[in-house]
Amino acid sequence: MQVEGFRYRSGVKKTHVKDFYFYKAKREKYSARSVYKLKNIQEKYKLISRGNRVLDLGASPGSWTEYLVELIGKTGLLVALDERDLSITAKAKIKKRGCDFLFFQQSIFEPLPKKLAALQFDCVVSDLAPLTSGPKLVDSARSLELVNRAFDIAQAQLKVGGHFVVKLFQSPDSVETAKSWEKAFKLAKLYKPPSTHKESKEIYFVGRHLLP
Ligand SMILES: C[S@@+](CC[C@H](N)C(=O)[O-])C[C@H]1O[C@@H](n2cnc3c(N)ncnc32)[C@H](O)[C@@H]1O
Repeated sequence: MQVEGFRYRSGVKKTHVKDFYFYKAKREKYSARSVYKLKNIQEKYKLISRGNRVLDLGASPGSWTEYLVELIGKTGLLVALDERDLSITAKAKIKKRGCDFLFFQQSIFEPLPKKLAALQFDCVVSDLAPLTSGPKLVDSARSLELVNRAFDIAQAQLKVGGHFVVKLFQSPDSVETAKSWEKAFKLAKLYKPPSTHKESKEIYFVGRHLLP
């Protein structure tokens, strides 16, 4: 396994691991290795089908978006939101697939555009993650703000019976937060996809069948 050092925008040095999934994503022409986390989730829970309407929060650079357009096919609708733009690869793949697609480049904390707020979705997925600052307490507080906002959006925009997937960084607070969401769904689980780095604290809350 090759380990490379790089710097986040804040200047804090982190390690970036080029592992099996990194090279697999390169070979399969996805914008990021994170696609395999959503693939693991979809293979296990079968949340998304052809023709579905899906909302993708924290979509950039766009590997989930690329996979989602494969899943929903030409008859589906995908809406993606991120404060950063999608990659050129993602834009090209979306265009090629030909499904209805909307992208909103804005912060999740801004009010949702009217066009988005008027829609109801079969599935809301969130891979939102804050830029890492270094101090763990600051990062986990930022992450909790993001996941709580994602949950509020999911509750407002999901159809009854719809599904919600959201990335959490494991901590006593995030696990408590996820527990408080359980009652909103018929089935709820915390799941660590096998493609997640072993040392990573990332975990996904999967809520299936939103209750009325
Ligand atoms: C791990 S990346 C998502 C990767 C993406 N799922 C993919 O497969 O390519 C997390 C994303 O969350 C976005 N993000 C973080 N805070 C945000 C905010 N307040 N509003 C909108 N997007 C945000 C970042 O810009 C970043 O693109």
